[in-house]
Parts: sequence; structure tokens; C-alpha cells
Amino acid sequence: MAIKFGRPIEMRDMPWRQTAVSANPLDLTMRPRRNRKSEWARRLVRENVLTTDDLIWPLFVVAGHNVRDGVASMPGVNRLSVDQAVRDAERAAKLNIPCIALFPYTDPSLRDEEGSEALNADNLVCQSVRAIKKEFPDIGVLCDVALDPYTSHGHDGLLADGKILNDETVAVLVRQALVQAEAGCDVIAPSDMMDGRVGAIREALDDAGFGDVQIMSYAAKYASAFYGPFRDAIGSAKTLTGDKRTYQMDSANSDEALREVELDIAEGADMVMIKPGMPYLDIVRRVKDTFAMPTFVYQVSGEYAMIAAAAGNGWIDGDRAMMESLLAFKRAGADGILTYFAPQAAEKIKAQS
Ligand code: PBG
Repeated sequence: MAIKFGRPIEMRDMPWRQTAVSANPLDLTMRPRRNRKSEWARRLVRENVLTTDDLIWPLFVVAGHNVRDGVASMPGVNRLSVDQAVRDAERAAKLNIPCIALFPYTDPSLRDEEGSEALNADNLVCQSVRAIKKEFPDIGVLCDVALDPYTSHGHDGLLADGKILNDETVAVLVRQALVQAEAGCDVIAPSDMMDGRVGAIREALDDAGFGDVQIMSYAAKYASAFYGPFRDAIGSAKTLTGDKRTYQMDSANSDEALREVELDIAEGADMVMIKPGMPYLDIVRRVKDTFAMPTFVYQVSGEYAMIAAAAGNGWIDGDRAMMESLLAFKRAGADGILTYFAPQAAEKIKAQS
């Protein structure tokens, strides 16, 4: 039985089709539901797939021993002492997650105006990199480059008279990146959004013999309300004065993201990242289509918190919402995803295969 339309189907209704749907334009012979009739048929025509290879797992590290301290605004996420970070790295390795990312909760007594603890070769991040690499040399370790976990004012850069100093900040970020590379970090990920930092870091890494250390730039990073729980986790929420709008991007902009990404590629970024994730899927798609670079997306703390909280209240099916959100990134063109759901997603993928 044919479905009748009010008017004949014309080519202009389906400009993507080269041929008419049927001899009789009033008969709708295309029945899209046929390909959805059962799970095997859906599997057969499925366009995108999420695999464990797509996942980067961010971990928070804190001083102490045997500490697994829950982050209230991120149910299921903990601040880990170095020994426990190694245990989570082991979990990642067993699940075949290719890469983990490290973020420190710095003791307030170690925070200062300049973020000098970022340059301490024995800071929490460097200790964690060494400990993890020693036990699990085959897992990728990514380190964030920015000063916010270390500054008393919670900003990513150096401040003078309430203003962020770009070039002075870049000089410190370069030293931070070198300290992390010396500790054994595989991927340097500048998240600070200063102009020119990727080129400066690349040059310094090469000069110091770290030619193999990759750079994943937070190329299009927006000034976002979705970072709130992360700032709780690293303890910068209370200390942050003002906002980050003079360096992170305005969420109204899309062309500007392309210019930011283009610059970072020109400066030597090996991989680019868009952040946050779900509210910026359009940016992921434009960046991937324009540059065809390895493109990553960060499903940030607030996105995690929304799903985890709604699931915890029984308002949504947490597992399904998690998998649907991650698949959306793949559909938008992402090659990989930084997500706090990485171990749960990897477990789910394993159980399905
Ligand atoms: C720091 C940094 C932030 C995130 C990653 N690196 C926060 C910020 O820019 O304020 C956010 C990650 C998340 O929300 O999960 N430069």
C-alpha cells in the first residue's frame, strides 16, 4: 500500500537523489523503516561506531597515599593519590583504553600568583606520569598545560592589574611543557588558549630533544559554564576571580573556531580538540570537514555531571545516555573523546562484543 502525499514528490523535494523514487511519484516506495526492522538489520546499516580506541580518560590526582576522594559534583569520579592513579591506569590498560589525561588538585599552600608549582619537576602530575609510565609504559599519558591548577587566582595565565599577560604566560607554559615531557609525558595538551603557545611549545620540545612528544591543542575552547565541576575537582572554583572570557572563546562564534584551529595546525599541533562537547557538535563537524585532522572532543565535567546526576535520580537511563552522547561525537566527526565515562563505556563495549 502506497502512502499518498498531498502533492507529487518532485526532485526538488529530494535534491540529493539523482533518480525519482518510483515510477509513480505518488507511491512512496522508499520505506526507511525496513532497515530498522530488527537488531541485525540495524547493525548492518549502522554508520558510526564507538570503540575503546576512541577514549581518553581524565584522572584527578591529589597528595597522599591510598586516597580516593569523591568529587561531589561528579558522582563516580575521584581525586586519586599517585598510587591510586596507578591503579586506575592499570584499569585503563586492562580495558585497552589507549590514553589517560592527568589533572592535579594542588594544595592551596602551594598555589601562588605565578603558578610556580607548575614548574616543579616533582609536582603531582610529574610524580604520576613517572609512576604510571614505570608500571604501564604502553599506555599513553596526556598532560594538560595551563596554570589554573597552580595559581592562587585560578586563571590559566599570569595576571597583571587584572589582565592576563599573553606572551609572559606562554614563556611559563613552555617551561611547564618541558617539565612534563621530562617526566615522560607522551602528549602535551595546552588548554590555556594563549595566542602562539603551540608554536612556542613545539619549538622548545624539539630543541630539548622531545621531537616525539605530540601536541594535542585545545584549539577551540569556549568560555563555558560546563567546566564548573572540574573547577571543584581541582579546587579552583572558589579561588577563581572573574571569568576566562578574555582568552577562552565566545560561545556565539563558529568561524572563529576555524581560525583558531588553523593557527594551531600551522604552529605544529598534531591533533586538535574542541571543548566542551555536546553543545559544540557543529564545531566538531566543521573542524573535521575543513582540516581533516585528528580531531578530538572533550565531554567536559558539566556534561558528565548532568548525565550522572539525572541517572542517579532515576530520571534517565545513565548507560544509554552515556553511550548515545559518546556516539554523537563520532557522528559529528570526532576521532576520539576525552570523557570521565571512559572506563564505564569501555566496560560496556567489552560486554557487547
Ligand atoms: C584548565 C582546564 C579546564 C578544563 C580542562 N583544562 C577548566 C577551565 O578552563 O576552566 C575543563 C575540563 C572539564 O570541565 O571537564 N585550563
